[in-house]
Amino acid sequence: MARSRGVWILAALIAAAQRVEHYEMAGYGCVRTYAELMGEKQAAKVLQKTLDEEGATDKRLTGLAERINVTAKTPTKSKAAGKNGRATRSKTMTSRIMEAVGMES
Ligand SMILES: [Fe+2]
Repeated sequence: MARSRGVWILAALIAAAQRVEHYEMAGYGCVRTYAELMGEKQAAKVLQKTLDEEGATDKRLTGLAERINVTAKTPTKSKAAGKNGRATRSKTMTSRIMEAVGMES
């Protein structure tokens, strides 16, 4: 059984956010290097701090993506038949994440 559309949307949003972070890291890295080449030590230091923050955000998004992507490809438990033939319903990590971001499944 395929996952709900919401989980795939969440996975796509995380991927888009990671693309933004990588774009930002490329920009800050270049400008930091220019600052270093021009002897602007204070500016280079601030830009490196920003670059580090972008990297940390990317790592958090990677951790989230690793969980949501696995969840997205896993069959939905709530629609699978249990031993008695009736559908079982359990609160999955996906449900909790979707609730946290305001996207009920
Ligand atoms: Fe960012």
